[in-house]
Amino acid sequence: MYSTDLRTEAEKRALRDPALDSVDFLERFQARIDAGDVIEAKDPMPHGYRKTLVRQMSQHAHSEIIGMQPEGNWITRAPTLKRKLILIAKIQDEAGHGLYLYSGAETLGTSRAEMINDLLTGKAKYSTIFNYPAPTWADIGMVGWLVDGAAIVNQIPLCRCSYGPYARAMVRVCKEESFHQRQGYEIVTQLARGTPEQKALAQESLNRVWWPSLMMFGPSDKDSMHSSQNVKWKIKRFSNDELRQRFIDQTVPQAEKIGLTIPDPDLKWNEERGSYDHGEMDWSEFWSVIKDGGQCGRDRMAVRRAAVDNGRWVREAAQAYEKKKAARAVRKSRSAS
Ligand code: 3HC
Repeated sequence: MYSTDLRTEAEKRALRDPALDSVDFLERFQARIDAGDVIEAKDPMPHGYRKTLVRQMSQHAHSEIIGMQPEGNWITRAPTLKRKLILIAKIQDEAGHGLYLYSGAETLGTSRAEMINDLLTGKAKYSTIFNYPAPTWADIGMVGWLVDGAAIVNQIPLCRCSYGPYARAMVRVCKEESFHQRQGYEIVTQLARGTPEQKALAQESLNRVWWPSLMMFGPSDKDSMHSSQNVKWKIKRFSNDELRQRFIDQTVPQAEKIGLTIPDPDLKWNEERGSYDHGEMDWSEFWSVIKDGGQCGRDRMAVRRAAVDNGRWVREAAQAYEKKKAARAVRKSRSAS
């Protein structure tokens, strides 16, 4: 019922055409990509291209929606009215991002109901970062500075993604994320330059959030199963490790500027590379959070499940209204003829 997919039955059958996997078609498609063509919703595309886009875009949409939860918990506890207003506006932006992304993914022929079902049954993922709790106000600053900061680094190249609807959605998302990042950095700066207790709160939060924020870029290149094909198809423009390095290089000076210490004893400027060397990530933690989000993950999913259950009557009422309206239109046209 959410679906904005307006394809006819014949068009839907055409999406399953085996010719879309023929060597000849794959070569012609790759030539379009290499020439810098933008692929649009009704263009023929290989099944793999469509499938990986639905996977990535729906995961991205789920992350935006689930990411509202840790921040939502802080609306009533935000320290001032101004902070509360900013937080509410930011959370609304995240909801909007989720909706553009679900709509964008629907253009590929998968309905929103299917995508949400995949999330609820555990088939689809959402970003691991949201399976960590946000117990202090400093965490809300870190979500903006580091989590939204990492999201921008990852998502700016997606504005040039070969799939038009995704690329166009990302332009606005990135502009809004950039505001989110700045307001987060401002919260952290205020704490870092505040009382010793406030500075300690900011440092303690940075110690917890730093490594999980680096994990947002995905597994290392050698373990990334989708990167090489998706770079070839120009869905991704850079590898996971390249983007992670870019984020580290731009974030370390920001931490230094406000007197906070990045919790990585191996972090060191490498003059030759013009980049920071950094310590190894705890990949076992990354894979285990993907596999099992723990109590935090169970809580996040319980909220999503309740939202789907509690909203069912609204969807059913809207459907009943649409049916009634359509029947009325038929009666009217019959009586007019
Ligand atoms: N959390 C959860 N799953 C992750 C992950 C993470 N941090 N990083 C990778 N994975 C998953 C992948 O989805 C894939 O699993 P799948 O086959 O079931 O989908 C598997 O681990 C292997 O990873 P790959 O490197 O092969 O996967 P990708 O090539 O898709 O790269 C990605 C992963 C970099 C996250 C890429 O999908 C991407 O750029 N996605 C778009 C951006 C996005 O989803 N961002 C979510 C961040 S949160 C956000 O934007 C909300 C904002 O408010 C902060």
